[in-house]
Amino acid sequence: MKYAVIYISETGNTEELAKNIFVSLPGDDKKMVNAEKMTELPVAEQYFIGFPVKNCTCGIEILNILEQLENVKIALFASCGLPANDKYKQYVENSVLPWINDDCSYLGIFLCQGKSTEKFREKLEIKTGYSSDEIDRIMEMASNHPDDNDIKHLCEFAQAVAGVR
Ligand SMILES: Cc1cc2nc3c(=O)[nH]c(=O)nc-3n(C[C@H](O)[C@H](O)[C@H](O)COP(=O)(O)O)c2cc1C
Repeated sequence: MKYAVIYISETGNTEELAKNIFVSLPGDDKKMVNAEKMTELPVAEQYFIGFPVKNCTCGIEILNILEQLENVKIALFASCGLPANDKYKQYVENSVLPWINDDCSYLGIFLCQGKSTEKFREKLEIKTGYSSDEIDRIMEMASNHPDDNDIKHLCEFAQAVAGVR
């Protein structure tokens, strides 16, 4: 198979990204799989691996998948509650990169904000020094994402790393 899109998503944001990547990839030789329902890892030339950012990184399920991938191309995509600026993207990327085997070609990461839940709000309250106003602003900013612009950039990213553009 040419492309496999594998993702984790608890509240639907990363799933929305996965679906848009999937339709933007050329041809029919492709598969999209929710990692939590996956019975076996699909064999593909190129993988798009997606996750919600938790504790500023991906979860153990994604690390387990990355560890199994050898001699393939890998692109990452993720949604997060905090503003997805370049510095944060780099931070998230750096936390996942060590789990990608050296014989794989790493193609890059797409990161955008995704609307979040009270659970994340509580985390921000407990773990950061943000004021209640700052947290309100972050939650409000995230509430409209992924938006049309995110999806446009996501599809451009997917097509660029798939060699379509
Ligand atoms: C328990 C929990 C922890 C989270 N931790 C982070 C985090 O460390 N950094 C961040 O930017 N977003 C964090 N988020 C926000 C999620 O990454 C964000 O809402 C994401 O879009 C959820 O994706 P999903 O809808 O695919 O599950 C957290 C959310 C929850 C519920």
